Amino acid sequence: NSDVFILAIESSCDDTAAAVLHNDNVLSNVVANQLIHAQYGGVVPELASRAHQQNIVPVIDAALRKANITKEQLSAIAFTQGPGLMGSLLVGSSFAKSMALALNIPLISVNHMHAHILAHFIDEEGFDKPNFPFLALTISGGHTQIVQVNDFFDMTIIGETTDDAVGEAFDKSAKILGLPYPGGPLVDKHAQLGNPKAFAFTKPKVPGLNFSFSGLKTAILYFVQKKKLENPDFISENMDDICASIQYTIVEILMDKLKLAVKETGIKQIAIGGGVSANSGIRKAIKDTEQKYGWKTYVPKFEYTTDNAAMIGIVGYQKFLSQQFETAAVVSKARIQF
Ligand code: KG4
Ligand code: ZN
Repeated sequence: NSDVFILAIESSCDDTAAAVLHNDNVLSNVVANQLIHAQYGGVVPELASRAHQQNIVPVIDAALRKANITKEQLSAIAFTQGPGLMGSLLVGSSFAKSMALALNIPLISVNHMHAHILAHFIDEEGFDKPNFPFLALTISGGHTQIVQVNDFFDMTIIGETTDDAVGEAFDKSAKILGLPYPGGPLVDKHAQLGNPKAFAFTKPKVPGLNFSFSGLKTAILYFVQKKKLENPDFISENMDDICASIQYTIVEILMDKLKLAVKETGIKQIAIGGGVSANSGIRKAIKDTEQKYGWKTYVPKFEYTTDNAAMIGIVGYQKFLSQQFETAAVVSKARIQF
């Protein structure tokens, strides 16, 4: 069977997304962002699930239309089982179950974190696929993990955050600086104009391959409070340098652990994924390792890096090939075993 068509649905957080894949090719990849959360400075779970309810039918319709595929041509339906917000996950899973049942086609559950990693296996011109084994650095608003990936479904978390995710560190720092949510991309923008050595923030001391970002957030808060007392305009006058220094520190924290992971595993193939891999500082630091240390690095196409359904679809395709199907009794999980 060489023609597999997967409809994939992602609704784990605040983006409602649907994609259609023909084998490992993406035919359509539709995302409806929920702008409502910006005014609250973070994702409000109840509002997220309400918005998913409104978005899911139009988003799936759009994905099928753009792919020029009818429901009857679909081979299977894949959905995000978790991790994520329960109310949000339930909208996607309920829809996927009903649709699979109505069409009498297989239902496939997908771990969102697997999907961020396997997004590298989407067939895309100009983007190489990593070879096994490789190390995946998954960095987003919800997660910070280093994963040793031995095969499509054989992977182990070898390091992860013990508190905030790296995206949260960016967003919370931005909030302290008075930037709107989500502040990560804005910190990046300012950072590109500033001096990364202007201010020094101490890096946390965490043993092994684990991360911690809550101390950095506190250090930035104290720094800002102190500087504001001396000069109320200090932040706005030094925004670029402050952002550059924060970003520099975060990138150093990530790179230190990645270097240690390479040393411990002997694996020099590195794939990054998750929304924070859009960060210019991280991209540059990762690319520089090719010359510096002879690593081979992989950064996926931007639309497959932030939350999207194409990455759910590529896992769906792999599971379809190995016949890993679910019954309608499968349950959504806010937290999920890897
Ligand atoms: O993967 P993603 O879209 O959603 C989650 O699963 O969390 O990641 C969103 C996170 C947010 O914290 C956002 O601020 C951060 O990614 N982000 C960035 C950049 N672009 C997105 N952080 C730093 N620099 C960026 N350019
Ligand atoms: Zn994600």
